[in-house]
Amino acid sequence: MKLELRGITKRFGALVANDHINLTVEAGEIHALLGENGAGKSTLMNVLYGLYRAEEGEILLDDVVQHFSGPGDAMAAGIGMVHQHFMLIPVFTVAENVMLGHEETGFGGHLDLPAARRRVTEISARFGFDVDPDALVEDLPRRRATARRDHQGPLP
Ligand SMILES: Nc1ncnc2c1ncn2[C@@H]1O[C@H](COP(=O)(O)OP(=O)(O)OP(=O)(O)O)[C@@H](O)[C@H]1O
Ligand SMILES: [Mg+2]
Repeated sequence: MKLELRGITKRFGALVANDHINLTVEAGEIHALLGENGAGKSTLMNVLYGLYRAEEGEILLDDVVQHFSGPGDAMAAGIGMVHQHFMLIPVFTVAENVMLGHEETGFGGHLDLPAARRRVTEISARFGFDVDPDALVEDLPRRRATARRDHQGPLP
């Protein structure tokens, strides 16, 4: 799949985070986006992922203009994102976090939590993880260095 960003401009009030950005990624290519803190890398990726809507510019996949109104649309078009910043809800369980955004409901519109728990167990087994679907995310071990690096720049 070929990806093209044309003239993407994203502003936060008076701040221009992305100023007419052009980027073409041909099928099979791997690119690194380099820039100092605050350069606008995450903002550009969030535009591509449908989290932000750009004020100007367009996104094309295989030369077809896309209109993403949210991450669901981006995912449906084949775009995935590993976020720099922690995006889980700490007071929810693993299963509750996994079902967020595509909740299955059962009888009477109740959330089908058992289905989400089964899904977590399946995914864990497939990728060789040992994740308890009922653990609260805030209780899971995290690499503290990663959390610090997000907020305080590169580690020495
Ligand atoms: N939601 C927001 N509201 C207001 N300003 C924002 C928002 N998100 C980002 N910004 C600002 O936009 C600019 C670009 O930020 P962005 O997070 O895209 O930079 P980055 O290149 O990803 O930086 P880093 O290397 O620190 O991850 C910064 O000045 C930032 O403060
Ligand atoms: Mg960033």
